[in-house]
Amino acid sequence: MNGGQYEDTDPSEVDLADPASHAERDLTPLWHRLREKEPLHWQPPNGARPGFWVLTRHRDVSAAYRDTQRFRSDRGNVLDTLLTGGDSAAGMMLPLMDGPRHTALRGALMKAFSPRSLSGVVDSIRVASRDLVTEFLERGRCDFATDIAGLLPLRAICDLLGVPPRDRRQLLDMTSSALGSHSEEALRQNAWVAKGEILLYFSDLAARRRANPGDDIVSLLTQCTVEGRRLTDEEVVFNCYSLILGGDETTRLALVGGVAALLDAPAEWEAFRSGRTATESAVEEVLRWTTPTLHAGRTAGADVDLHGRTIKKGDIVTLWNASANRDGDAFADPDRLLLSRQPNRHLTFAYGAHFCLGAFLARAEIGAVLDDLRQLVGTMAAAGPARRVYSNFLTGLVSLPIVWTTSARR
Ligand code: HEM
Repeated sequence: MNGGQYEDTDPSEVDLADPASHAERDLTPLWHRLREKEPLHWQPPNGARPGFWVLTRHRDVSAAYRDTQRFRSDRGNVLDTLLTGGDSAAGMMLPLMDGPRHTALRGALMKAFSPRSLSGVVDSIRVASRDLVTEFLERGRCDFATDIAGLLPLRAICDLLGVPPRDRRQLLDMTSSALGSHSEEALRQNAWVAKGEILLYFSDLAARRRANPGDDIVSLLTQCTVEGRRLTDEEVVFNCYSLILGGDETTRLALVGGVAALLDAPAEWEAFRSGRTATESAVEEVLRWTTPTLHAGRTAGADVDLHGRTIKKGDIVTLWNASANRDGDAFADPDRLLLSRQPNRHLTFAYGAHFCLGAFLARAEIGAVLDDLRQLVGTMAAAGPARRVYSNFLTGLVSLPIVWTTSARR
């Protein structure tokens, strides 16, 4: 399965809940080791902080995503909130619901996320991507994270939610601070303030849309009926929060990570540029390679026997997409970027009932940027140190300075 060179990493030395473990270390050897030797790993308690189970194999992570009875989302779906007693939006926000109510709310939102409904948003993303890439190519340099990737996903999700253009910059700043930051201090100080600000912002917008509905998702949420009743103000606001956070920073990290991967793999970049690799497979490989959301969290809904151990009802279980996406049993040559890879059953968007609602939109955004890179860019190179996000949930770069030139073929 996996090579013996990875056997030296001692899992007890790594605290998977600590953002530093992800921001400051390469955990590839640990994931190899866990998949091979300890596919159900127990991360022990740390002081008052509870312990949690760690799933790393592609097969186990997929099975847990599929089994919403035994691996529940309705207390929280990320480690931080589960470790502190559960999410305050549990049962109200789509990803934090299970069973019929989840199915009903998902059904109500699904129409707004269909390729047909999104065609206008996708067209406007293509134009925005082309304009931004052209503008910064003329300048010869940019920080790809902030100048390009930082603007497109937020624009798309703001179009969907009907957020007025004048508020968008402010929302970008708030969302960056709410989920991850570039340092531990910034993370602690900003996260709670930012979360409160986002909730307040959407509370105000939802009140305006309830009174005066338009053709956007905030209006849809205020008008829709789920299991015989309208959503409360609180439910509307939490779901807006979920969409903006779920849709913005993840896609941004995939876009930046895609460019960073191309810089590190010149032969892949050349094959892509010359048209030998299709955009569709490149998008999927960028998604597998970057895996912006490291894990999903669940709570055991029953005792579960797995790999000779028992997960007790109520235990916290973490599903590590980061590891599953590099599992040699699911991917040939898993630690290699291969833009033509097919099939590519990555778990970047999860699997089953909670499969990412924004997957089509995220794929369209990444495809638009990759197409522009292919058509417009000649050469690209790093122009300074990249900076990583500081989080145990998100991974990727918050800064990627590059120099680049326009393609002679233009
Ligand atoms: C590359 C970008 C993205 C990544 C990596 C990503 C990842 C994920 C993952 C892993 C889940 C499952 C969470 C769980 O099972 O607990 C999820 C769910 C979800 N995502 Fe995304 N996402 C991305 C883009 C988007 C976009 C653009 C939107 C919306 C505009 C979005 C909205 C949602 C929603 C609403 C859910 C909850 C679905 C449900 O529970 O039924 N995501 N996403």
